Formats: sequence, C-alpha cells, structure tokens
Amino acid sequence: MCGIVGFTGNQPAAPILLDGLKKLEYRGYDSAGIAVLCDEKITVSKVTGRIANLCEKTEDGKNVPGFTGIGHTRWATHGAPTDNNAHPHLSNDGKFAVVHNGIIENYVLLREELIADGFVFESETDTEVVVHLIEKYYQGDFKKAVIKTTTRLHGSYALGVVCADEPNKVFVAREASPLILGVGVGENFFASDVTALVSHTRNVIYLEDGEFAEVTPEAITVFDCLGNTVDKKVSRINWDIQSAEKGGYEHFMLKEIMEQPRAVKATIAPRIQGSEIKLDDLEISDEYLKSINKIIITACGSACYAGCAGKYAIEKLCRIPVHTELASELRYSDPLIDEQTLLIVLSQSGETADTIAAIKECKSRGAKVLSLVNVVGSTIAKISDYTLYTWAGPEIAVATTKGYTTQVALLYVFALYVARHLNRIDEPTYANLLETLEDMPSKVQEALDSNPHIPNLAKHYTPDRSVFFIGRNTDYAASLEAALKLKEISYIHAESYAAGELKHGTIALIDEHQPVIALCYNKDIYEKTMSNVVEVKARGADVLAVTFKHNVKIASVADDVIYVPNVETVFSGIVEIIPLQLLAYHVARENGCDIDKPKNLAKSVTVE
Ligand code: F6R
Repeated sequence: MCGIVGFTGNQPAAPILLDGLKKLEYRGYDSAGIAVLCDEKITVSKVTGRIANLCEKTEDGKNVPGFTGIGHTRWATHGAPTDNNAHPHLSNDGKFAVVHNGIIENYVLLREELIADGFVFESETDTEVVVHLIEKYYQGDFKKAVIKTTTRLHGSYALGVVCADEPNKVFVAREASPLILGVGVGENFFASDVTALVSHTRNVIYLEDGEFAEVTPEAITVFDCLGNTVDKKVSRINWDIQSAEKGGYEHFMLKEIMEQPRAVKATIAPRIQGSEIKLDDLEISDEYLKSINKIIITACGSACYAGCAGKYAIEKLCRIPVHTELASELRYSDPLIDEQTLLIVLSQSGETADTIAAIKECKSRGAKVLSLVNVVGSTIAKISDYTLYTWAGPEIAVATTKGYTTQVALLYVFALYVARHLNRIDEPTYANLLETLEDMPSKVQEALDSNPHIPNLAKHYTPDRSVFFIGRNTDYAASLEAALKLKEISYIHAESYAAGELKHGTIALIDEHQPVIALCYNKDIYEKTMSNVVEVKARGADVLAVTFKHNVKIASVADDVIYVPNVETVFSGIVEIIPLQLLAYHVARENGCDIDKPKNLAKSVTVE
C-alpha cells in the first residue's frame, strides 16, 4: 500500500525523490519521508501527513544535499501515522536507512530477538526490524547484509536500502510487492510504480520475487537470493507523461472519467478485426473452452463489481454458470474448484494481496486463471495462465473509474468471443453485439455529454443520512459500483439493494428523508423496477431515476431523471455507470472532500 522511490546519479536526489513521491502519493498518504546520503552521512527528513508537508519541511528538497537517496509515502499498517512511524527508518549506528512496502509477518519475534541483542526501537512499525537486522549482519559487505537479512523475513516486501559506507549505491529487494527499476544515463532509479519513473526514463526493469538489485549511477545489477547475477530484459514504457498528470482538470478522478471514451476504445478496438474478435496472442483452445463447466470471477471492491456486470453477459451469451466472489472471501472458502473451472481475475493494479492469494488457492486446486489487468508486468499478470490487458493507461485517483469500465469492456469482449467459439450465439446477434462494442466509445462520450444537470443534482442528492441505490439484474450490478463510488469519495453512506428485495425488510427505512437512486435501464425488467420506484415514492422518498434515452414515461413518477444512451442491455454496464461516477464526483466536490485521496484509502491494496 505504500510507495517507495530511490535515486542515484549526478543531480541533487531530494527534489527527484519528492517528485517521485508525489506521483506515488495515491498509494498511501498519511506520512512520508526521505533519506539522502551526503559526505558518508545519512540525513532523514520525515513528516506526518502529505508530501506537501515534506516539501515544505525540506524547502522542496533544497535543504537536504546529496546525490543518492530513498523515499517513502505511507499507508499505516503497524503503528499510527506519526513522524516516528514514518519511513525511512535508521539503524542505531546511523549507517543504514530503509524504506519498505509490504508487511513483515514475523516482525514480533524478530523485534524480541533484536531487543535482546541490544537494539533500540524508535517506531511501532514492522519495518524497523529490517534496518536493525542489516546492521546486525553487516561486516563490511552491504550486499551480503541485505541478502542475509531477507532470509530472516516472512511476508512481503519491496525494500530500498542505503548505506553510509557506500555513498553512490542503493540496494533493493523484492518479495510479493511491486518494484521497478528505472534505467537512465549516468543515473538510475527505482519505484513501486512506473508513474514515478516516466518523467525520467521509459526504460525499466521489472524485478521478480526473490531478486535483489544493486543500483549505482553507472549500472543496475540484479542478483538472485544466492547472490548470482541475473540477466534482465529492459522493457520500454509507452505511457505518455501527460497521462500521469492532471492535464488541466481539477482532479485526477474527473480527468480519468473524461478519458473513458479513449480508454474503452483502447480496450476494445484492437481486439475487433473485421468480423472476428482476436484476443491478443492468448492461446485458449476451443477444446479447453468446451471443457469449462464453471467460471468463477474474483476480485476486490469495484473490480469485483465489474465482475458482477460481466457475469450477466457471460451467462447470457455463453450459457456457462458464473459465480462472482470477493477475493478476500474466496481465498478462505475452501472453494469447489477443479480443472474444468476457469478463474477470471480482475485487477487494475495487478497487485491486490487478497486477489493474489485467491489465485494461488484456486490454482492449487487445478483451476486455470485468466487475469484482466491494467498494469503491465504486475504480479497478477505474471502468476496467471492467461492475461489480457485493459490498456486504460495509468489510473491515479484512488477511486477507480476508467479502470472499472475497461474491465467491464474486456469482459464483454471475452463473453462475445467465447459465445462465438462455443457456437452459442446466432450470426445476427453476434454481428449486432460486435457493432455495439465497436460503438461503445462514442456511447461513452454521449453519456458524458448528455447530462449537464448532474452538478445541480449533486446539490440536491447530498443528504445527511444515506442514499439507497436500487436496480435489478444488470442494473443491480451497476448500482453496486455506483454506491461504492459515492461512499468512498463523499463519505456519505450509500447502499445498493436488489430492487425486488426491498419489501423483504429494507423498505422499513424508506421515508421522506431517504433519497433513492433507481437504476431503471434494463428494458427486459424495467416495468418491475418501476413498481419498486412507485413503492418508495408512496413512502415519501425522493427518487432520481437513471434510465434509457427517450423514456419519457418515467419523468411522471421520478423526481429527477438521468438519461443514458441506448445500447444493447447485455452490454449496458459501461454507459450506465458513467453519469453515476459524475454524480459521485460532484457530490464529493460539493462536500469539499479530498476526491483523489479519500481518507483511510490507498490505491493499491497490497496487504490482506
Ligand atoms: C474503488 C476501488 C477499489 C479497487 C479494489 C481492487 O474505487 O478502486 O475498490 O477496485 O481495491 O483494486 P485492483 O483493481 O487494483 O485489484
């Protein structure tokens, strides 16, 4: 959940570290710090709160001289967000500083051991054991001390370490937490995410689990756990720098909402070639597809809700049973899985800890894993049997928008592909749905453009109490995501209910103080949802209806209406969520919330 960054070269390190931390702030933002080497001495600067405080404290890095350093932005796990618990942590002799992303699971035992050895702890973090172990094992060989230390650690880590005896060197290590090396000219970098690297270099090396690297201005040398050199491929990043910046928008979230026509196009268009769908170089044989008797879709949060939208499409078009399960539940559920089960995994970051654990659990029971991931080279992509990328570009706002819609888009593409390959779809329906997918980017644009009254609605639907979302079937899937979007960025309680369930209990909560947002887009079941709208209206609720274009009938029942462009119902999950993302955004803005960095959250949830 934290972000780490490092630099060594011929320029002042601190401003580069601070700049990198700003790019990584979405990963955690309760405290931050840097450690810079100068004249064989390490200077550590740490603050509680945002990177802006660290910039102020260090005068944008000007008062921390030195050409080699490491930095960290924290999402607290062990110990409150305080200056002491902020990274980097220093060894007792002041010779080593460490930044860490991940969790050291055996830190309690290690801490006891180190205290018995005479080491003094200054923080409550799990990380501090790492720096004291390095001091303990150091006998003049920095590399050996780091490698030996990692043999004592259980859990996950991306580590950056500097040593006062080696002023132009940073050592890094990776186990189950992302770490990417940036290859420059006369300077080198590392970071948790490429967004912190692209303004300096597009040449990167992805470190694997169990690997280490020695980073100096002239070279990056990668080792395995025995200290043997490993040959690594340098990959080229093709993201442009602007895509990791706000580009004139007030918030990343708004920028990313607006980017959705392009992102959805990038996901869908290259996979439609003439009248065929081509799934990259995925080697899924028709024989294997025929053998699948069950699909489990697993993910966390919004990604799981994208799975709910995809479930309807896959079941309807492919006639394969699909079960959607939260990864945090699936991993401990003793799941009923065998070789005929396909596990589909959704993850924007590709690093979500619960999702990774669920994959491992299901693989060990024989399932094949298809992951739909946005971040190239991420852990989930690496451990899956098949991977398809969503190509949404970097998503910086903590609340996902284009990450979500591109996941749904890719599930739709996959559903149509499988339906065709299993001969479960007739030609006219296939052609019609293919056209629907091709048109999707322009429909997304239309959805963005056609509701200019959303900022005004946001003023009205900003209640003290809560908001209910109701819907059925595909509308229900969209309502799950809509409710999450609203609550996570505006801090207003929101719940989604399957509309038909209301009368089984929840309707007791409906009165004139309870706004209801009713998703009535699905034409197959629209009349049924309308009857639920009438029921809540009869109990005094204000109703905002979200429905298909030209549905004038609804205006006589609902208080307010949002119209969504018409697309085939089975593929409606993308266009339907767009105005509700905008609504959540404007409600949060109305409430003065920190939209891109909501409290208590972080973008990449690499802890259980
Ligand atoms: C909510 C949100 C989260 C993520 C979830 C999974 O807006 O972004 O619920 O969807 O943490 O993250 P990934 O997709 O990176 O695995």
